[in-house]
Amino acid sequence: MARAASNPFSLRRRIVSLSSARETHKLLRRVIPGNIDLVPVLEPNLQHVKVDPAQIQQILINLVVNARDAMPQGGKVVIETANVELDEEYAGRHIEVQPGHYVMLAVSDNGSGIDEPTQARIFEPFFTTKQEGKGTGLGLSTVYGIVRQSGRKSSYQFVTF
Ligand SMILES: Nc1ncnc2c1ncn2[C@@H]1O[C@H](COP(=O)(O)OP(=O)(O)OP(=O)(O)O)[C@@H](O)[C@H]1O
Ligand SMILES: [Mg+2]
Repeated sequence: MARAASNPFSLRRRIVSLSSARETHKLLRRVIPGNIDLVPVLEPNLQHVKVDPAQIQQILINLVVNARDAMPQGGKVVIETANVELDEEYAGRHIEVQPGHYVMLAVSDNGSGIDEPTQARIFEPFFTTKQEGKGTGLGLSTVYGIVRQSGRKSSYQFVTF
């Protein structure tokens, strides 16, 4: 049994297409070894959003590298985009979320998963469980910062298979 960490974060519908997810595929392929399957599940009619493509690339790289590190024996990384509507009920349960239409970008893996004490700290700058010299602990705090800058929310969801 494995737990997958996924990271859906939402960006409000605006001007640009989130096609950078598709363009970044090649780049991502270069940072992950051959024993990891990279599976894009992309919504063809994704709503347009106002984002900096370089920042989206940064986010994807940070998440995919985390997935890679969690799966030294190999595995699967799914990159998914979708149009989602967050309703009043959802907004009521999630602090800082306004109801509305959002674009979701989710990265999930079937690696080691994250235990609860670690989950509470993943967005902290310099928090890492990796050996010295292996991780700075800045990957997810950077993701968090970028998503916050866009006025949106990043979270990890923990799904048990
Ligand atoms: N996909 C994942 N699976 C398992 N654990 C994860 C995953 N993503 C993050 N983590 C945990 O969250 C911690 C913080 O992640 P973060 O990306 O901020 O730093 P890092 O990966 O340790 O260092 P760096 O990003 O600089 O390489 C990791 O050390 C790891 O314990
Ligand atoms: Mg990282």
